[in-house]
Amino acid sequence: MLNLRGVTKRYAEGAGFRDVLAGADLQLERGALGALVGKSGAGKSTLLNLISGIDQPDGGEVVVDGTHLEKLSERDRTLFRRQHLGFIFQFYNLVPTLTVEENVRFLLDLNGVAAPQARDRAHALLEEVGLADRAAAFPDRLSGGEQQRVAIARALAHEPSLVLADEPTGDLDGDTGLVILDLLERMTRARGRTLLMVTHDESTLNRADVVFRLASGEVTAERRTPGR
Ligand SMILES: Nc1ncnc2c1ncn2[C@@H]1O[C@H](COP(=O)(O)OP(=O)(O)OP(=O)(O)O)[C@@H](O)[C@H]1O
Ligand SMILES: [Mg+2]
Repeated sequence: MLNLRGVTKRYAEGAGFRDVLAGADLQLERGALGALVGKSGAGKSTLLNLISGIDQPDGGEVVVDGTHLEKLSERDRTLFRRQHLGFIFQFYNLVPTLTVEENVRFLLDLNGVAAPQARDRAHALLEEVGLADRAAAFPDRLSGGEQQRVAIARALAHEPSLVLADEPTGDLDGDTGLVILDLLERMTRARGRTLLMVTHDESTLNRADVVFRLASGEVTAERRTPGR
């Protein structure tokens, strides 16, 4: 599903450069749960941005579900992202001026899905994350855990083949974080979707099929026995 080979990324700093990724390799099979760990500043978010096509590598290959992102134009990368990828962020990133239902439908509307279907799909997902009765509310009326449940529904609305999550439980207390983690796992891996998650959380590492450690710009993979 995901194949990174020799990915390099550097940022200009002062008169020189900072090499954030120095030949990173990463392979994740379809339907697997991958956890990405590393110190603050190691380049985890940078790596996710390259996988999502928001940013481009300086060198190497980023192949998502058979598509070479580094060979696409910016416009095609944007279209690819909208159709094939789902994102969940630490701070939910819901659109504050849209209702819960409108947030969940956002990509469906953008992708040209007919309104009745988009509405039904949004409601089915909200049902699944336990927020069917909050469809008309605005995000600022919801708790952190509820906002993250909406964000999960939004990330999955267009049936992405790969879901990327950047510390999705980082802003939540331990119990709420576990609920979110269970939900994410149930709605992704349990249905054959691939999930790559940046995390520091032990319970996530224990559930992962593979733990990727990012240090000094390189990734090392450690296979785990799935199912704890
Ligand atoms: N657009 C940018 N321009 C310059 N430097 C950047 C840019 N984006 C990131 N960096 C630098 O790249 C390094 C990696 O940043 P990144 O955000 O990927 O780290 P991270 O592993 O996600 O850290 P954290 O755990 O704190 O979120 C940092 O040193 C950061 O300052
Ligand atoms: Mg980060």
